[in-house]
Amino acid sequence: MTELTKEIHRRLTFAIISHPDAGKTTITEKILLFGGAIHIAGAVKSGKNTRAALSDFMAMEQERGISISSSVMGFEYKGRKINLLDTPGHADFSEDTYRGLSAVDSSLMVIDSVKGVEERTRKLCEICRMRATPIITFINKLDREGKDPMELLDEVERELATQVRPFTWPIGQGRHFKGVYNLMENTLYLFRPGEVLLPQDIVALEGVLDPRLDELVGSSLATKLRDDVELLHGVYDSFELQDYIDGTVSPVFFGSALNNFGVRELLDAMVGLAPYPTPKIADERSVLPEEEKFSGFIFKIHANMNPKHRDRVAFLRICSGKFERNKIYYHVRTGKPYRTANPTAFMSQDREIIDEAWPGDIIGLHDTGTFKIGDTLTEGECINFRGIPSFSPQIFRVIVNADPLKEKQFHKGLNQLAEEGVVQIFSKPHQPNVRVLGVVGQLQLEVLQYRLEHEYGASCSYRPLDYNMAHWITSSDKKALEEFLDNNMKRILVDIRHNWVFMSDSEWSFERTRSNNPALQFYSTSEMQTSRA
Ligand code: G4P
Repeated sequence: MTELTKEIHRRLTFAIISHPDAGKTTITEKILLFGGAIHIAGAVKSGKNTRAALSDFMAMEQERGISISSSVMGFEYKGRKINLLDTPGHADFSEDTYRGLSAVDSSLMVIDSVKGVEERTRKLCEICRMRATPIITFINKLDREGKDPMELLDEVERELATQVRPFTWPIGQGRHFKGVYNLMENTLYLFRPGEVLLPQDIVALEGVLDPRLDELVGSSLATKLRDDVELLHGVYDSFELQDYIDGTVSPVFFGSALNNFGVRELLDAMVGLAPYPTPKIADERSVLPEEEKFSGFIFKIHANMNPKHRDRVAFLRICSGKFERNKIYYHVRTGKPYRTANPTAFMSQDREIIDEAWPGDIIGLHDTGTFKIGDTLTEGECINFRGIPSFSPQIFRVIVNADPLKEKQFHKGLNQLAEEGVVQIFSKPHQPNVRVLGVVGQLQLEVLQYRLEHEYGASCSYRPLDYNMAHWITSSDKKALEEFLDNNMKRILVDIRHNWVFMSDSEWSFERTRSNNPALQFYSTSEMQTSRA
């Protein structure tokens, strides 16, 4: 085995996805504790302070030095190098989350057993499905009276259009929660609220018929477990690892993160099941991690961490080969050479300068405006990685410079913040000076205004626009496309990659336009092949 293959097989790069409040922060913290990446509970910032309003964002801004180091957390666990990517909890920043998911090889989905599948989970799961990302499911908060576990599994299958295979099964719930039964190992894990699991809490049984089960959890819950297990065997086929790797089947675990119950087993399962770095799809071809030549892409840019300097950190996911400090690489979009003297890794909660990194790793590159989200670095080949789509925003505004004396600062700030992915920018085909912003949530507009003022000394105001839906359009029929553009010019915008975008004000009017123009294809993301509307 070459050094490259060895390093690839050691890596495990994943993100945790959930609806806010399901327990992502709690689980992240426990995982980091097991991995020795942090030593005290409470060290991980909850996503909550990004939740409510601009004032919270400003407070977060002051803590940026902290938040950046926790957005990628690397640590060693059982001989594996684990990279855990944090994704913003707030729905208004969901684009950032979607892009983050392009940089991982698998996901851990957390579901609150009381609330079941929620709106954000649905959306995030859809993104994972688009990319066939394998998902492990953790159903949390079993210490509370939640939904029936069978119903929860049905809900996950139905709402998230994925198949499930329970690996553990809860015994009781809420006040009567006694623990979980591991269906794969025939092992009982006994629950003691708030306590760390001791060796005597883990009991190997001879299957569910073992009479010790009755002694340990009481005969009524033991009978219920036996009935459940029989039902499960009838309903679910046996688990095939390949189905999970292909993203069609999700192993499910139950537990209570707050009580430290089931999280270590979850992490162990991830280490055993989750794929090491997988091939990444580029427009030109599929890129295998084992390829000798280095390649990687930028999926996130974090700007102005220090207000005194315009410094930005670009987050690079390594897709193939070995990355080396000081080596000259090829910046595909600009066609220029690129060399970095101070690449950083995100180990534990610190950033440290590294000499090399491997597929699956995420490194920080100090950036002085060289990068845009989606940029690719290679050793000379012209490839463009896919998976960094722009999503259809839901709120559109015309942005206007409010201080004519600060024209230059306004444009510079707007462009840089758009490159960082704070907002999407569109322009009108015949009026390039009219800039239209598209965002997913109102908070993004407030953040843009705040940052333009504080980081660039510019001010802006917004004018409403009558449209609230955008669809990217293409057609192999050039004439039909031109005709459509001519007839609908008032409703056409152009995105930063010069793609045509059609605006509508309701689902109904969009559907009518679509059915009247069968020669055109309409897409809900900029990554057109995968996202037909
Ligand atoms: P998030 O990052 O997904 O938003 O969720 P977070 O971990 O912050 O958890 C949301 C709330 O759910 C927190 O309570 C947390 O303590 C609680 N929680 C997490 N896991 C469990 C569990 O297994 N059982 C129970 N009963 N609760 C759990 P909070 O009151 O909102 O915050 P805090 O004051 O406890 O921090």
